[in-house]
Amino acid sequence: MKIYVTENYQAMSRKAANIVSAHVILYPSCVLGLATGSTPVGMYRQLVAWYQKDDLDFSQVKTINLDEYVGLAPTHDQSYRYFMQTNLFDHINIVPANTYVPDGLAPDPEEACRRYNDIIHSLGGIDMQVLGIGHNGHIGFNEPGEAYELETHVVDLAESTIDANSRFFARREDVPRQALTMGIKSIMQARRILVVVSGEGKAGIVRAAFAGPVTPQVPASILQLHPDVTLVGDRAALSKL
Ligand code: PGA
Repeated sequence: MKIYVTENYQAMSRKAANIVSAHVILYPSCVLGLATGSTPVGMYRQLVAWYQKDDLDFSQVKTINLDEYVGLAPTHDQSYRYFMQTNLFDHINIVPANTYVPDGLAPDPEEACRRYNDIIHSLGGIDMQVLGIGHNGHIGFNEPGEAYELETHVVDLAESTIDANSRFFARREDVPRQALTMGIKSIMQARRILVVVSGEGKAGIVRAAFAGPVTPQVPASILQLHPDVTLVGDRAALSKL
């Protein structure tokens, strides 16, 4: 595993964007697995800035996101489709049809998961998967205790995740209780993985994930078994490693 320690959030964002942009430059038609959450926002902002300077071209890139809340429309300001549009896709020259986010409104969510797996396979798998880590160690919405062998599936969100994400909703009751998420298997099959972490609040879980035992109780710990992981974090998040 490669580890980059940066001074602060901004430097972490820039380093992560460096790594993604190098990949896009070397492999213009690559498949990027993308993540939502607070952590990668600065990385997306940096990618947009480089695109606007004409340093990046996304016209052949395909993206596939980790997860989506069940029940939120793409236009809902807390849906992950909306997040991706407003933080990245609306500002770059990616072809809309080449961006995939699970369908939170699918009448049959299980069927939507199967379709999503088919998409991942038909794209030839994921070249580089960006991941944040939840305070409870989740990656995507794979909560503690999830089986490792799963591809995209429907999950019941952990109470700790509902608590963490309620900061984005007017009321805790408004946080969806379920999500569609790529599974641990889908994530582990990505050829490269880029993990971004920031802030002292993540230091404990980062230690558990990368210096503790590999256990389903800390889903991110499975990444220790992946052959090509790059961890980019600020000094605070990596302080206990
Ligand atoms: P965060 O979320 O980037 O908002 O901390 C990470 C996650 O829950 O995966």
